[in-house]
Amino acid sequence: MKKVLLLIASAAVMAACGGPLSPQDKLTVNDKKINELIGQMTLEEKVNMLHSKTNMSSAGVERLGIADMNYADGPFGIREEGQPNGFMSAGWTLDSATYFPTGSALAATWSEELAYKYGTGMGKEARLRGKDVILGPAVNIQRLPVGGRTYEYLSEDPILSAALALEYTKGCQDEGTAVCIKHFAVNNQETNRGSVDAQLDERTLREIYLKPFERAIVEGGAMSVMPAYNKVNGEYCSENEHLLNEILRGEWGFKGFTVSDWGGTHSTMGAMLHGLNVQMTGSNYLGQPVIDSIKAGKLTEEMVDEKVRQILRVRYAIEAVPADVANQVMTSQPECQDIARQVAEKSIVLLKNEGKVLPIAKNVKSIAVIGQNAVLKTQSGGMGAGVKALYEVTPLQGIEKRAAREGIEVDYAPGYKNFPGRRWGPAPAQKDPLEADAIDEPADQFLMSEAVEAAANADLVIFFGGTNKNIETEGSDRKDIKLPCGQEELVQALYQVNPNLVTVLISGGPTDLQVLEPVSPAIVQGWWNGTEGGTALAEVLFGDIAPSGKLPFTFPRKLEDSPAYALGNFPDKNAGGDLFSLMYRPDVLKMSREERQKLIDSMPKPVSKYTERFYVGYRWFDTKEIAPMYAFGHGLSYVDFAYGEPKATASKDAVKVTFTLKNEGAMAADEVVQLYVSRPEAQVEWPAKELKAFQRVSLGAGETKTVTLTVPVKDLRYWNESINAWDLEHGKLQILVGSASDDIRVSTHVTI
Ligand code: BGC
Repeated sequence: MKKVLLLIASAAVMAACGGPLSPQDKLTVNDKKINELIGQMTLEEKVNMLHSKTNMSSAGVERLGIADMNYADGPFGIREEGQPNGFMSAGWTLDSATYFPTGSALAATWSEELAYKYGTGMGKEARLRGKDVILGPAVNIQRLPVGGRTYEYLSEDPILSAALALEYTKGCQDEGTAVCIKHFAVNNQETNRGSVDAQLDERTLREIYLKPFERAIVEGGAMSVMPAYNKVNGEYCSENEHLLNEILRGEWGFKGFTVSDWGGTHSTMGAMLHGLNVQMTGSNYLGQPVIDSIKAGKLTEEMVDEKVRQILRVRYAIEAVPADVANQVMTSQPECQDIARQVAEKSIVLLKNEGKVLPIAKNVKSIAVIGQNAVLKTQSGGMGAGVKALYEVTPLQGIEKRAAREGIEVDYAPGYKNFPGRRWGPAPAQKDPLEADAIDEPADQFLMSEAVEAAANADLVIFFGGTNKNIETEGSDRKDIKLPCGQEELVQALYQVNPNLVTVLISGGPTDLQVLEPVSPAIVQGWWNGTEGGTALAEVLFGDIAPSGKLPFTFPRKLEDSPAYALGNFPDKNAGGDLFSLMYRPDVLKMSREERQKLIDSMPKPVSKYTERFYVGYRWFDTKEIAPMYAFGHGLSYVDFAYGEPKATASKDAVKVTFTLKNEGAMAADEVVQLYVSRPEAQVEWPAKELKAFQRVSLGAGETKTVTLTVPVKDLRYWNESINAWDLEHGKLQILVGSASDDIRVSTHVTI
């Protein structure tokens, strides 16, 4: 219905202007009606819209029939209903949602089609819950292997992240739910996230860190944007003139509204003058002080009108769900659970398969599943982005169910202790014997001997290692990427008694595999893979489907190889407390506003220098010729693919590259073909190569298809700092086509 309304109105404007409207300009089609409404509002009513009403809503104007704006975290499942004044559960029964695979898992599909479906799933379930805006997608570039939110974010590459962010946005908004794309911008670390100043050059900002936002906003019409906690080049994101006014509204033509990250508004004047619409949460900056500032002549009512107009554009682009329609059925819907399964199936990455240990051979009659990560649920934890899932199939459940069909026996042993991380509530009366006290605790001898015995008695060992959502979490970065709680010692012991061993890594980000790799003939990256994660994993392990995920980030051999570490840019020496957790600490909540501000001001003012510039992820590894453990884009299949010789043509608008792709195997399989560009004769500085296009191609057994990859010429430009604009370097491009960034199969060249 809302879509129809929008279309009719937009058709009218199109007719008036004589051309199609851009996705952002479509938001302005109700401006006339909106201006009339603003004319009827008191200043108090308008200002009341500029800050939180509850922890997850901002106010409308009931008198004028303007509904409140209801927000939901995002980004991989509609978060359970919280108390109006905080995140504590409201204790509802119909708010169990579908837990979709987390960001890095979605990105590992390299599938625009699945990202779109994922967005529709999120959008549908949001509406069932009466939510207008999803706080997602979360699209920041994965700069640091240790990043606490790597699991939420998509990838280390702007082209891949931008394509998926765009489709997620379109899918979600096509269902009538607005996205609030986050965290704008350069939000790449959790350490001191509330105060860190990310200092970077304009070219790196434009080419790497802004790209995913730009596509989702300009091409996808993302209706709202969440400025991040951090500062960028000296200014907080929520009052950053360059980011919010010059780029977002000025260059990209953004017509919707911005919502500060929770607790990320810093001043009345900064927010009012430099592009923030809604303070979340609280009203100490965008409440009464706005009215006072107008009275004092420091701000004008027209400024408030403009902010309200931008909010109302979104309010009228999506239809509010009436209270008696929302929350009538269970949030999690079968069709969304099915999308979650499809994404999980295509996300699993086969990193290594020596001696073709996988798929599980027909003569395997018993399997020892070792490791707590086979049974730990991953729907919640990791702070804000958790989901109360209607159900979650764990890896062990998936394997047991699938093995039963073949009459295979499955034995399980926990193998190692689980590190529960920081506890928010009181410690339980009795300590769980399966919980570790420290992340670097050595292997537990009892658990290890029990696991070794199970492994010795089985035909095949499947070891589940990796991290958990207390280790990789919002609010802090990992200290390192080492496998926790003695996992390395354990897997070595398992391999000694049974070398027929598969390792499945359950984590959102990369881990250090230096010890594990030599004792694991097969390695699978299994992610935090949503409600149907265990089902999908079993399908891959048993060979019902061929694995087809590709790494969305580099697995460094060691942490120190990665760019920000190699250059000493991270960790900074000035590490202090996190502003967000600080503000919700009970003693801080009791403080007066002045006391709280004093405390915040006294916190260290850390800086993060991005001197690695655009050499992020594989751009660094390739250029510096550092071999990673597993490269960006890597992922094996159960079949081989043959790439035909490519033909490339260049026009003013695009480079097109065509080649044949053959599935040489005996089963259906997908390949993700990747096109990288390198510039052997360039005058401008470029990384050794850069991803410029990709496509997931499904092929039946023995099937051949002709594939065409298109690179828009605008994606070949660079940000020329001397003219402060996008610029194109003409000349010869080497076109490298392959299965991974380190597995280029065919190449050609073209001149632009
Ligand atoms: C997170 C956001 C989230 C918000 C509301 C913040 O701490 O950074 O991503 O949407 O909380 O839960």
